Amino acid sequence: MTKNNKEEFENLVCDILENDSFLELKKDLHHGTSKYEHSIRVAKLSYSLGKFFKADLRSVSRAGLLHDFFFGTRKEKPENSYLRHPITARNNAKRYFNVSDKIAEDIKTHMFHQVLLKKIFPFINRKEKVSLKEFKPKSKEGWIICASDLLVSIMECERFQFTYVANVTMLLIMNIILFKN
Ligand SMILES: [Fe+2]
Ligand SMILES: [Fe+2]
Repeated sequence: MTKNNKEEFENLVCDILENDSFLELKKDLHHGTSKYEHSIRVAKLSYSLGKFFKADLRSVSRAGLLHDFFFGTRKEKPENSYLRHPITARNNAKRYFNVSDKIAEDIKTHMFHQVLLKKIFPFINRKEKVSLKEFKPKSKEGWIICASDLLVSIMECERFQFTYVANVTMLLIMNIILFKN
């Protein structure tokens, strides 16, 4: 990221980065790193992709930073689960930062790659029920958050795992869907 881009990115999200509740994410582990570090990586990649695809940079930067804004791990509470945490993060983003409906929707749909995976392999997290239509990104910015989260998660994963091979396949499927639309 160039110096100018870094400055622009920080101006778009500085209130979030200084917020005590957001800083709580430093305590939560996620993909072998902290949720804070993961969220910053996703936000920066979303910003860069947003520049490339001429998206709304404020939306992608803020939604990227807040996409996993929930407290505790995914196993601790039912609302933090694998497929429900996007709703919890969306509610927290509304509550703490009064984000727009568009940013809220982009946060809610960030796990679409995993929703697709679950539809193809229903035995994954059998107890969780999700709707493909409800969790499909509704905007260019939503697709950017979803793709950034997936790519950063793959990079953060220390060991090569089958699930991440499946995730790359999902990314390709997402691209086909994007192309069709
Ligand atoms: Fe997430
Ligand atoms: Fe994430």
